[in-house]
Amino acid sequence: MNFDLKKIVRPNIETLKAYSSAKDEYTGEANVLLDANENSLGSPLTKWYNRYPDPYQKKVKEKLAFIKQINAEQIFMGNGSDECIDILYRTFCEPGKDNIIICPPTYPMYEVGANINNIEIKSAPLLPNFQLNVAHIEQLVNEHTKIIWICSPNNPTGNSLDRIDIETILNHFHGLVVVDEAYINFSKQKSFAQSLIDYPNLVVLQTLSKAWGLAGLRLGMCFASNTIIKYMNKVKPPYNINIVTQELALTALEEVGQVNDMIAHLVDMRNALAEVIASMPQVQEVYPSDTNFLLVKIPKATELYRYLLTQGIVVRDRSSLENCSDSLRITIGTEQENTQLVDAMAKWIDLAFVNG
Ligand SMILES: Cc1ncc(COP(=O)(O)O)c(C=O)c1O
Repeated sequence: MNFDLKKIVRPNIETLKAYSSAKDEYTGEANVLLDANENSLGSPLTKWYNRYPDPYQKKVKEKLAFIKQINAEQIFMGNGSDECIDILYRTFCEPGKDNIIICPPTYPMYEVGANINNIEIKSAPLLPNFQLNVAHIEQLVNEHTKIIWICSPNNPTGNSLDRIDIETILNHFHGLVVVDEAYINFSKQKSFAQSLIDYPNLVVLQTLSKAWGLAGLRLGMCFASNTIIKYMNKVKPPYNINIVTQELALTALEEVGQVNDMIAHLVDMRNALAEVIASMPQVQEVYPSDTNFLLVKIPKATELYRYLLTQGIVVRDRSSLENCSDSLRITIGTEQENTQLVDAMAKWIDLAFVNG
């Protein structure tokens, strides 16, 4: 593989003189901070948040580097993975010129991000077994292809993608391969984060929004080579991760054991719910899931979706997506919520089919 990062980065980002914040220019210890036009009196609401946050989230990155067994310089943090996705576009893809490849059905933000940034989207749909169509991907690649987006485990299908396929793409593609591992903690698959050393073109996305239970904090993580991260740091807003998020993330990262227990509990509930739903009449398929959701195929899925709404239960109707006709994506809830869902589904099936 012939990978030259200088050919991938947008030329204006290569030459960009990045914003230098007050915190960039002075990093030592001082008692009198009169450099950033902050309010030195604090806020009448709370005294603590009058200072700008660390622009590079050093403490959180150190902790995360230890957990992930990578270097802190290989980590970029975004206001959710969604910000990482946008920054990747703005760093590496030239509007109106470059293209990217997505493998639908998959997480829609890759497509939305490309459209926002005026990047051409090429599509290599997953095969009917929801695995990558590597030959199709290879056919689509041209000199302007900058990113191939791979979501594993995939949203909304729930399955992990074949590792050998991902490695084949990493080995042959001259651009960036982004492996979005938002759901990796729910799967038994090995993360690609430990493979950065083997692939200079690899970018791994993870998030605190799923297994860590902190979607409201908005903290997405991007792991890649030091040089890729340096370019992304040039593009990000200076203080993109606020102090509260950094503090809470640091506390959360101390609780790996507790989080692992919770993940195990969610996985047990997922497997139990999958079995119950699969045994219900009319249900055609509950697809194997490596995530905290199930994709369920059932006739008249959109009617079921609307019925569940009338019962105060919101799931996601994915029926309009490729290879997903009549399919609902259902997040694993609490024990009580799962029971409510099953009861409502059973009632609807009875109404819609048996008595209908
Ligand atoms: C595959 C995938 N990536 C990223 C995200 C967004 O993550 P974040 O909350 O960190 O923006 C989601 C959210 O549903 C997702 O499914």
